[in-house]
Amino acid sequence: MGQRPDAVHVRAPGKINVYLGVGPRHDDGYHSLATVFQAVSLYEDVYASAAAGFTLEVDGEVDVSGVPLDDRNLAMRAAKLLAQTAGVDAGVHLRIRKGVPVAGGMGGGSADAAAALVACDALWGTELGAHRLHALAARLGADVPFALHGGTAVGAGRGDELTPALARGRFDWVLVLSEQGLSTPEVYGRLDQLRAQEGAVADDPPMSLDVPLAVLHALRAGDARELAPALLNDLEAAAVIDRPDLGATLIDGIRFGALGGLVSGSGPTIALLCESPEHARAVQDQLLGTGRRALHVHGPVPGARLVG
Ligand code: C5P
Repeated sequence: MGQRPDAVHVRAPGKINVYLGVGPRHDDGYHSLATVFQAVSLYEDVYASAAAGFTLEVDGEVDVSGVPLDDRNLAMRAAKLLAQTAGVDAGVHLRIRKGVPVAGGMGGGSADAAAALVACDALWGTELGAHRLHALAARLGADVPFALHGGTAVGAGRGDELTPALARGRFDWVLVLSEQGLSTPEVYGRLDQLRAQEGAVADDPPMSLDVPLAVLHALRAGDARELAPALLNDLEAAAVIDRPDLGATLIDGIRFGALGGLVSGSGPTIALLCESPEHARAVQDQLLGTGRRALHVHGPVPGARLVG
């Protein structure tokens, strides 16, 4: 066991799926994915302090009214899983300050879980190391390993089998936030329905599930103009069926000059790719002018990190 501080502060980023190819649904309810995550400069801050039991409070810059404070909360589950695995007898009080929209398709809950793992590991001096933390992260949820990892990475399997992707420079994004979130399982379920209606049946030949080389090349070149036409999300149609306004937002974003755009993850956040910080601010201003909530972020940024 290492040194034990009384309190620690960990910051973990939200993500955009620059590419999200969804394969067939398996018996465990999960779908095979071929995805590319990029961590962006919108953060969850988790403050962990020594306590006898396990308690949680949540506040932040986004609407947190839908966030559970009990064992349904992924950060709470992360802390308990780490304690159980490492044989820790202590508890923790977690305070989460949310900057990533709740149920927005940006992995905010997964970032909380990743941050809680790193925070409790430091608080309790368990020193599990990156490899074992990654294994715990994968047990908590498909996007949690990426929130630990950060940067830009290809995700296979359920999205939890990560390979770092080379990404040069910085990509500027304008995010358009929604008041109402979308349920990830429902969006995946809607995609299954759409595919069933289109006649894709279980014994069809397996769909090819690879990240296109064009995506990887554009990231490696740091070229937003090259990346824009390669942005793709198989969940987009399923999200837009429930939320037709997302289609209008995408059209407006392009009309206002964004190079390209897509629904982030299972939505409803829209991510619009821009050429430079100045370009992103101009697109953001036009979207704000329509009464929408728009933020300018950039990626890639590091994964869950101890900041104090
Ligand atoms: O792992 P996580 O809790 O983030 O996943 C939330 C839900 O998203 C799953 O219960 C499942 O319905 C859907 N999902 C999926 N295939 C994946 C990842 C998530 O169907 N690869």
